[in-house]
Amino acid sequence: MTKSTTVTDQAFDILIIGSGAAGLTLALRAADFAQVAVLSKGDLNQGATFYAQGGIATVLDAEDSIASHVEDTLTAGVGLCDRDTVEYMLENSAETITWLIQQGVPFTTNAGAGKSRERTATDPCDLSSLHLTQEGGHSHRRIIHATDATGKAVFETLQARAQAHPNIHLIEACTAVDLVIQPTSQGNRRICVGSYVLNQRSNNIELIKSRFVVLATGGASKAYLYTTNPDGASGDGIAMAWRAGCRIGNMEFNQFHPTCLFHPHAKSFLITEALRGEGAKLELPDGSHFMAKFDARAELAPRDIVARAIDHEMKRLGCDCVFLNISHRSEQFLKTHFPTIYSRCLEFGIDITRQRIPVVPAAHYTCGGIVVNRRGETDIGNLYAIGETSFTGLHGANRMASNSLLECFVVAFGAARDIESKIEGAPFADHIAPWDASRVTDSDDEILISHNWDELRRCMWDFVGIVRNDTRLHRAQRRIELLQQEIQQYYREHRVSNDLLELRNLVLVAELIITSALQRKESRGLHFNLDYPQMDAVATNTILSPGKTSLKARASLYYSEVP
Ligand code: FAD
Ligand code: SIN
Repeated sequence: MTKSTTVTDQAFDILIIGSGAAGLTLALRAADFAQVAVLSKGDLNQGATFYAQGGIATVLDAEDSIASHVEDTLTAGVGLCDRDTVEYMLENSAETITWLIQQGVPFTTNAGAGKSRERTATDPCDLSSLHLTQEGGHSHRRIIHATDATGKAVFETLQARAQAHPNIHLIEACTAVDLVIQPTSQGNRRICVGSYVLNQRSNNIELIKSRFVVLATGGASKAYLYTTNPDGASGDGIAMAWRAGCRIGNMEFNQFHPTCLFHPHAKSFLITEALRGEGAKLELPDGSHFMAKFDARAELAPRDIVARAIDHEMKRLGCDCVFLNISHRSEQFLKTHFPTIYSRCLEFGIDITRQRIPVVPAAHYTCGGIVVNRRGETDIGNLYAIGETSFTGLHGANRMASNSLLECFVVAFGAARDIESKIEGAPFADHIAPWDASRVTDSDDEILISHNWDELRRCMWDFVGIVRNDTRLHRAQRRIELLQQEIQQYYREHRVSNDLLELRNLVLVAELIITSALQRKESRGLHFNLDYPQMDAVATNTILSPGKTSLKARASLYYSEVP
C-alpha cells in the first residue's frame, strides 16, 4: 500500500515533485539525512519511467569503453552535447548501476536472457553477467535491461524501497501548481521555499514548505497529438521553473521515436528500438527496405535520422505507416526477449513471430528543459531539477537511446550529495502567504479545456513536427498565442483542476518550443527546418531567460503571478 498523507501545512526538508526514476532515486539517496516528501499528480507510477522498455546504457563489455560511449553520445547529439557533462555522466554511470542492483532491480542476465533473475541486496552482482542489448547510435552492445519492461522493473523496485523507508513520505493525487520563491538578503539571490499544490482529494490548494524543492516532473511530449508518453507528460516542471524565473534551454529539440505501434485502439504503445538492435528491419508497404538509402547505419542510425526517413517515406508514398519486421527470429527468442511487446501486439491481432508490425513516429522525449548544472542546481537557490525536465547538456540536439534513465540516476546522486552539504544552513521560510482563491468561481465550461487541449496538440503536430519551416512555425505561434490568452483568462477566473493546470503548463511549453525553434536558423539533429537545411559551423544552445525573452504572451505576466 502506498503511504498517503494529507498535505495541509506540512513541512519537509526536501520536497521532490515527481515519483519517476529521478525523483525516487533522489528520495532514497537523501532519506538517510532528511525528511523527504515525494509528490505525484496521479498514481506514483504515472510517469514515463514505468513505460521505459529498452534499458539503461552503460559500459560493461570488455571490448567497449567509456570513451566509445562518449563518442557515440556526442555523434548522436550532432555537435551540441557538452563534452564535460557527457564524460561526467558516463564516468559516473557504474556507481548508479551497482546501486540499482543493490536495490534489487531484476536485470536480465546472460544465464537467463529473457528470464529476469530476481536479485536482492545480499546477492552481489557480477556486472559481467548482465545481458547487453543494442540500440540506435550505439557502436557496441551496452544496454542493460529487464526484458522489454526495464522501467517497470526499476520503478517497482525503487517504489518498494521508498515505501519501506520511514523518512520518505509518498503523496499521490497532488499536483504542484507553482513554486514559492522568496528574496534573500544576499543581493539578487532568490530561493525556493516550497510549493502550492492542488490536493485532488480535497480539491483545495495547499502549501508545502520545504528547505529544498526538486523538480523531477518528467518531459513535455504531450504537447504533440501523437506521443509514446503517458498523459501527465505536460511539462509542468519546465513551466513552473520558467514562471519562477529560471532559464530554459534547447526546447526545439523534441525527439520523435521512430516506432510507435500504429493501430486505432493502441494508445501510445512503443515498439522498442531494441527490436532493431536484435535485427528487426523497417519495411515499406510493398516489403522493400529503405533505411540504407538514408544512412549507412540503416536501422541502427540515431533516432532523428530514422524518424525523418520514415516521415519522408510516408509522405512520399502517402501511406499511413511503415512496418517493422522481426518475424525471421525464432518464436522462442521473441517471446523471451520481448514478452511485453509480443503479448501487447497479440492483443491487437498482430503476431510478431509471423507478421510485421505497423509503426509510425511519435513524440517521445524532451531534450531541452530547465537549465541545470551536473548537480541539478537551477538558477534559483535551493531549487533543483533532475531527470527529463532538466537540461544538463548531455543530449545535445538528439538524445541517444537509453541515456535518459542513466541521466536520471547520475544527476539524482549528485543532487543528493549537494543538498546534504547544504542542509545544515538552510532554514524553513518564516511566513508564506496562503493561496488566495477568493476571486475565482467554479469551472462552468469544461469544453474549453478539452477543446483547447486537442487544438494545441494538433497544432504542434501539424506545424512544429519532424520537418518544420518558418511559415508553419509562425502559423503555430499565432494560434498558440490565442490559446494562451484564452487559457490565462480562464485560469484567472476559475477554480483550478488538474486538467486546467496541465493545459496552462502545456501552452506555455508550446510557446517555449516554438520560440526556440524560430530562433534556430539552421537544421541540426531533431530540429529540421526546410528554410535552413544547412548546419552552422558553430553549434550553440538556445537559452531562453524569463527576464529577457519576450514570449508573445508576455513572460513577465507569469513571473509576477507567483505570490
Ligand atoms: P517521469 O518518470 O516521467 O516522472 C514524472 C513524475 O512527475 C510523475 O510521478 C508525475 O506524476 C510527476 N509530476 C509531473 N508533474 C507534476 C506536478 N505538477 N505535480 C506533481 N507531480 C508531477 N529512457 C531510457 O533511458 N531507456 C528506455 O528504455 C526508455 N524507454 C522509454 C519508453 C517510453 C514509452 C517512454 C515514454 C520513455 C522512455 N525513455 C527511456 C525515457 C525515460 O523513460 C524518461 O526520460 C524517464 O523515465 C524520465 O524520468 P523522470 O523521473 O524524469 O520523469
Ligand atoms: C526504446 O526502448 O526504444 C526507448 C529507449 C529510449 O527512449 O531511450
